[in-house]
Amino acid sequence: NKKEKSRRATTISFINLAFLTLLVLIISLSFGGITATNSQRNEAEMFEHWLVENGKNYNGLGEKERRFIVFKDNLKRIKEHNSDPNHSCQRGLNQFSDLTADEFRSIYLGGKMDKKSVSDVALRYQYKEGDILPDEVDWRKRGAVVPRVKTQGDCGGCWAFAATGAVESINQITTGELISLSEQELLDCDRTDNFGYIGGGAVWAFDFIVSNDGIVTDEVYPYTGNDTAACKAIEMPATRVVTINGREVVPVNDEMSLKKAVAHQPITVMTSAANMSDYTSGVYKGPCSNLGGDHNVIIVGYGTSSDEGDYWLIRNSWGPGWGEGGYLRLQRNFHEPTGKCSVAMAPVYPIKWKSSSDLLSPSVFKLVLLFAFQLISLVLL
Ligand SMILES: *[C@@H]1O[C@H](CO)[C@@H](O)[C@H](O)[C@H]1NC(C)=O
Ligand SMILES: *[C@@H]1O[C@H](CO)[C@@H](O)[C@H](O)[C@H]1NC(C)=O
Ligand SMILES: *[C@@H]1O[C@H](CO)[C@@H](O)[C@H](O)[C@H]1NC(C)=O
Repeated sequence: NKKEKSRRATTISFINLAFLTLLVLIISLSFGGITATNSQRNEAEMFEHWLVENGKNYNGLGEKERRFIVFKDNLKRIKEHNSDPNHSCQRGLNQFSDLTADEFRSIYLGGKMDKKSVSDVALRYQYKEGDILPDEVDWRKRGAVVPRVKTQGDCGGCWAFAATGAVESINQITTGELISLSEQELLDCDRTDNFGYIGGGAVWAFDFIVSNDGIVTDEVYPYTGNDTAACKAIEMPATRVVTINGREVVPVNDEMSLKKAVAHQPITVMTSAANMSDYTSGVYKGPCSNLGGDHNVIIVGYGTSSDEGDYWLIRNSWGPGWGEGGYLRLQRNFHEPTGKCSVAMAPVYPIKWKSSSDLLSPSVFKLVLLFAFQLISLVLL
């Protein structure tokens, strides 16, 4: 029994010792972290942490060292930006933090714009003096936007994501059904004016969906992140669940018409996004080109921030980890007609007619009944 006791005592003291050692280790580690004036070591730690968080693995010889240099450059720019009290938006680390500006642009900015993308301007949403528009619109709150922000992967396929997003919304607005659609069908099958992962524009994707008699869901034809150009949708006509009737262009270089359009449905736009890779929050008023866009996105609303002013609410396709949960707020009512970052230069939307069965909807039926009743009472009087 005595033996047992002493053995227990040694076990306990051993545990105490282990605890003590651990405690000392933790204290010295955190103390080291606090007192480290060596910012190089901090950067290295941040890089390691970032690698794990983003699931990055580099295979090439010396690649990790090269990427660390780029990472440090980006980190420096982010810190400079965020320490400027005059900045409007915040910048931060994200999945793009190991890319140079040139690499980012060539991999991710595949939005194409030309004269054809702004032909067929329609007057449907042209702003007229006296038009009354809501001060704030957010189509997410009305259930017209697929909640999961999609990720375009390492490709220039933004145009396909902008197109599906706008069609998902107009379909919900006219039919009440929110159905997530297949970007991969567009990337693989729409090869007239669009170029898969190299780039394209939502405007031509809408033409494709019209001539294709619809588009399938992304459940049936999922995103692969692989540009094989082998169209698999040919054998699945029965699954083309969502159709549109055409597309039109909002009067260009006119933010009031764009506002009117967004009040009616989400609108695809081109924007110049080369300087937005590290945007994390706030209203973006930073550098960008007002001469034309290189990235295709969807405006799903607008509003006014009390301290940062008017903004467009934009849904991107760089995943939920970018920006404000995948969204960007971009300065609205810019001093140039092009809009901030060219946002008003090429606004396009799909058209979907209400089906003829809507003529028999309860509200129409009620109206007809009321009319008949009034007619009868007129006759009787
Ligand atoms: C911030 O803006 C104010 C007013 O416009 C200006 O005087 C000041 O120089 C700016 N500060 C920086 C760091 O740019
Ligand atoms: C904006 O992006 C362009 C293209 O990558 C780059 O040349 C320019 O330096 C960037 N501007 C700023 C202020 O970061
Ligand atoms: C892409 O598709 C091709 C053809 O189907 C296949 O050979 C290749 O392995 C795929 N690549 C990836 C990264 O999945």
